[in-house]
Amino acid sequence: MPIEASDDKVELISPENPNTKVSVLLYGATITSWTIEGVEQLWLSSAAKLDGSRPVRGGIPLVFPVFGKSSAPGFDQLPQHGFARNSTWEFLGQTKENPPTVQFGLGPEQANKEVYSKWDNGDNDFTLLLTIELQPDALITTIEVANSDSKPWKFNWLFHTYLAVDDIDDTLVNNLPGETCYDQLLAETYEEKAPAIDFNGELDRIYQNVSCEKLLQVIELGKVVHNVERRNLPDVVVWNPWANKAAGMADFEPKDGFHKMVCIEPGHVHDFVTLEPGESWTGSQIIRKGDAIKLQAI
Ligand code: BG6
Repeated sequence: MPIEASDDKVELISPENPNTKVSVLLYGATITSWTIEGVEQLWLSSAAKLDGSRPVRGGIPLVFPVFGKSSAPGFDQLPQHGFARNSTWEFLGQTKENPPTVQFGLGPEQANKEVYSKWDNGDNDFTLLLTIELQPDALITTIEVANSDSKPWKFNWLFHTYLAVDDIDDTLVNNLPGETCYDQLLAETYEEKAPAIDFNGELDRIYQNVSCEKLLQVIELGKVVHNVERRNLPDVVVWNPWANKAAGMADFEPKDGFHKMVCIEPGHVHDFVTLEPGESWTGSQIIRKGDAIKLQAI
């Protein structure tokens, strides 16, 4: 029985190991937990709201149709990160027995009306199809965005992935030197010079147009703890709120929990994707276990 569905969530359980599983809330189609042989791979705040009253703090929230806040026409009324993460998605069922694979859908009928109406006045007909595949050593999330309208519209997409780490003080993220980076704290664009990203304060950066050939690795004390692969997701946000920002977020607990997480967020956010009527666009995030350090120059 690799899938268990209830009113508010769906669980995928690996046929190879019952302690390798994924839990998905229908609210936001948010993945709230992913364990490999009983070891949690994602960070979830102990104060995260799982009752649909606000987006989930942790796991993998979904960002659509805007990343952050935008002053662009049609987007300027939307709240931060849009409405996918605070709409209740439809569970479309299981599409594969092994590896267990499920799909969720969101369109104007399911979308949180209050927020959706702020995107181009709620006038865009769209279909989102999220596919989640649980492999013994990997989690694959794929989004397809389709334009079911008679006019073009545009969007951002991002997987806002909170990865678990033992201690952010010992954590590095590799393969970003030479990349163009927009630092959201400095409001400046520059070329990344550091051989690896390390963390010693709040960090909020958008690495733009990073080739999908590049693997991003989260490395702790010389050991690879997560490998992040991307398909058609050229931008990577790296975020850690650190102590002060965590203190100001009511749903961020424990307050020193920033030590236990790093957000590596693959998306298409440095500009908008435009879809013509009838067109669709697809992107995937693959998070994989694997020990080998792979260094890739620009
Ligand atoms: C990140 C942004 O993706 O999300 C940050 O780069 C933001 O600027 C963070 O603070 C969390 O956003 P929110 O809306 O979930 O508090």
